[in-house]
Amino acid sequence: MRVAMIGAGYVGLVSGACFADFGHIVTCVDTVAAKIEALKAGQIPIFEPGLAEIVANNVKAERLFFTTSLAEAVAEADAVFIAVGTPSRRGDGHADLSYVYQAARDIAGAIGRYTVVVTKSTVPVGTGDEVERIIRETRPDAEFAVVSNPEFLREGAAIADFKRPDRILVGSEDERARQVMTELYRPLYLNQAPLLFTTRRTAELTKYAANAFLATKITFINEIADLCEQVGGNVQDVARGIGLDNRIGSKFLHAGPGYGGSCFPKDTLALIKTAQDHGAPIRIVETVVAVNDQRKRAMARKVIAALGGSVRGRTVGVLGLTFKPNTDDMRDAPSIAIITALQDAGARIRAHDPEGVEQARLVLDNVDYVDSPYQAADGADALVIVTEWDAFRALDLRRIHALMARPVVVDLRNIYRPDEMAAIGFSYSSVGREN
Ligand code: UGA
Repeated sequence: MRVAMIGAGYVGLVSGACFADFGHIVTCVDTVAAKIEALKAGQIPIFEPGLAEIVANNVKAERLFFTTSLAEAVAEADAVFIAVGTPSRRGDGHADLSYVYQAARDIAGAIGRYTVVVTKSTVPVGTGDEVERIIRETRPDAEFAVVSNPEFLREGAAIADFKRPDRILVGSEDERARQVMTELYRPLYLNQAPLLFTTRRTAELTKYAANAFLATKITFINEIADLCEQVGGNVQDVARGIGLDNRIGSKFLHAGPGYGGSCFPKDTLALIKTAQDHGAPIRIVETVVAVNDQRKRAMARKVIAALGGSVRGRTVGVLGLTFKPNTDDMRDAPSIAIITALQDAGARIRAHDPEGVEQARLVLDNVDYVDSPYQAADGADALVIVTEWDAFRALDLRRIHALMARPVVVDLRNIYRPDEMAAIGFSYSSVGREN
């Protein structure tokens, strides 16, 4: 099959490379010429484990191409994926669909034979209807169907998530389009991945429901963690105790500094707006968003408390800046709110992140960025673990202890054991555990 992928961002690039790996001929299209030139030269603009190899292999096998010419890619394609950004609209939290609709107009002008137009971007319910209307209006003669096929990729694990998905969701009432989608995903469903067919609107809503549910699960365990601290419980044991119940499941029950990233914050807000607009407000998600926002500032207060109530003039070392490990993504990272609050309270920040510093520099000022965890600890009055990179689990903690001005560690990801930290001599606090 021939595939055109509109948008060579995170989702487009991963999906395009993986479809090429399945044997399809894929052309990734982007309006940013510099990005396309870089990709042609073998440079991958994002950090995602395994992606560079898949791109290189499929470019070499002449199954993966890059271009700025949408018209050429679309004219040849059996399926055209819209994988452009849908950021939160400034001011009201609604998803900004201008890139999606522009893509629809451009696609309409270029459609050749019967084409399945697939929205892969996360889009509010009814967007598929509007994409269909735009294409129909521009090209009354065109033979096409518009399908919703949301992605469930996690950054840092995107290749594995694409190749071994829990399910593939296809929203379409058009039988011919369903067949094209089945053909595209054949290698996966031969591998037992369930291919779920729904109506287009249901597929669009399902994506938001999934992310909102996961954000709720995280926020729930975070509040249980707070309660554990007050009553003397251990949140990891609570998570295990409830997670072994199959109806609950053990994943996404890690307490921490609150969720961030490019998806949960934006998608929960968009779902809230859609629900309010339709007179069916989802109050539980409204509360989740409010609780998660407050949590980041509460984490800064936790650090201040660990230093006896003031950080003025103190040096705080921060380990981990990205919103989670194995990515360089700083979008809505809890580190931003935590560091800003600590700076407001008078602290000097020295931070280390294995991949995120370049992006962090764009959003966090007056931070001393250092190359290693040991440099972050050197002379620091406190060390705060914000992102659970694997490298931080294997540190020489005795060396860290010797380097610090004061041996205060605030572990917002629970990566160390309280008894071991105490044995080394740290004043150690974590999330939802008796310390
Ligand atoms: C999320 C979903 O997991 C994907 O299924 C979805 O496709 C994607 O959004 C999307 O809509 O594009 P992602 O944002 O990459 O993926 O990252 P997650 O691994 O879900 O983590 C999100 C945030 O939740 C991170 O800040 C993470 O630290 C936090 N988290 C996650 C916790 O605090 N505790 C947990 O137990 C799990």
